[in-house]
Amino acid sequence: MAINRTSSHGEWSSRTAFILAATGSAVGLGNIWKFPYIAGENGGGAFVIIYILCVLFIGIPIMLSEVYLGKRGRLNPIASINYISEKENRSNKWQIIGFIGILAGILILSYYSVIAGWTMAYGARTAFGVINDIDAAGAALMFTEFISDPERLLAWHTIFSIITIIVVSRGVKSGLESAVTRLMPALLVLLIALVIYSSIEGDFYNGIRFMLYPDFSQITWKTVLVAMGQAFFSLSLGMGALMVYGSYLSEKISIPQTCVIVASLDTLVALLAGLAIFPIVISSGLEMTQGPGLIFQTLTVAFGAMPGGQLFGTLFFILLIFAAWTSSISLIEPMIIWIIEKYNLTRIKAAAIAGGMAWLLGIGTIVSFNLGSEVKFFNMTFFELLDYITSNILLPLGGILISIYVSWLVSKDSINAELQIKSKILKLIWYISARVIAPIAVIFVMLNALGIDINILR
Ligand code: PFF
Repeated sequence: MAINRTSSHGEWSSRTAFILAATGSAVGLGNIWKFPYIAGENGGGAFVIIYILCVLFIGIPIMLSEVYLGKRGRLNPIASINYISEKENRSNKWQIIGFIGILAGILILSYYSVIAGWTMAYGARTAFGVINDIDAAGAALMFTEFISDPERLLAWHTIFSIITIIVVSRGVKSGLESAVTRLMPALLVLLIALVIYSSIEGDFYNGIRFMLYPDFSQITWKTVLVAMGQAFFSLSLGMGALMVYGSYLSEKISIPQTCVIVASLDTLVALLAGLAIFPIVISSGLEMTQGPGLIFQTLTVAFGAMPGGQLFGTLFFILLIFAAWTSSISLIEPMIIWIIEKYNLTRIKAAAIAGGMAWLLGIGTIVSFNLGSEVKFFNMTFFELLDYITSNILLPLGGILISIYVSWLVSKDSINAELQIKSKILKLIWYISARVIAPIAVIFVMLNALGIDINILR
């Protein structure tokens, strides 16, 4: 295949554009829907600390490696790695990284778009005033009724899928940059307003205590694995999304600073979401361990009670839908570019194929909340299984392979040229993290959590 060195997909207009797009990918349902409920299920404070450590010591070094691959390869994830392997005289087997990523993207998108559908439905309910003055019991009942209706879930999932397909058919750059520039700051402002509300009306002291006070006695390897998986998920790592965005980076831009900014913004949004949600959960008597419905129940109670909640809540859900879109675009994009470059199809066809696959698989997730809720695989519903396989296995696996490949097998000159880490100390820190700390930590956590006793720390 002919290698086009000027990236067939164009370039970002500036470094800021890349930061915005990468943040658009990172900030999404993972921060606002998933982070609070899995932190709630896993005991709060200690989970949050482990999560932050994973972002710092595993997430950021791997993020640098991933963006490097895209910036140097400038093609779809599989072809980028093949190109680099050819230049570096490495085996073409490393292209497996690209395959894992493309697969993970479609698997995640399949349930991501179902949950994004919930967000749309709740936005509509809030707009129509259905949730005004609802109490905690009413919100819980409303959610249970909502997810037990497969047709309704399917309708919203379909709407979200179609919109995603339409948006990506038109090319990623047009639209994405401007949408993210305007909507991300707005989401941040609304989130801060929600935190202020929750500090006044919720049980702020106990909410913060739950989120920040670490009780390490509750922590198991499974918890560490979930925190690590969440770091990969939330930072959009290990599946080629940032590789694709890196491939639109122009030559001159330095990667490390950019990655630290993206990771910080992402973590900030997750922590703010926790600060907004937990105090309300406690004051309204809802359970922390409610699972995927947590924010939908909590937010309905909050928006239902606050002055101007109808307008504010509607705006909030609209912005959350946009955040989900910008993330879903990056979930589907690796597969789309791969189809376009490999099979020479048009972008529209590629988007329809990739989106159609995710849509079809999404039906499995929908059914797992109602008709098929009793069907278990390793004690998990279909949705839980998909989430487990992608967040806790495929993304970390993709991540370590990326880290090992870049830090051990690529020539230092090329890394220096692309990464442009100026300070010698920072360079050393990156090498140690990417070569040793990140891979060992990921393998260690996975082996332990997957039940293999390697007899350390016992
Ligand atoms: N980071 C997104 C979120 O937190 O919602 C989800 C995601 C997007 C995961 C892109 C992985 C990815 F490649």
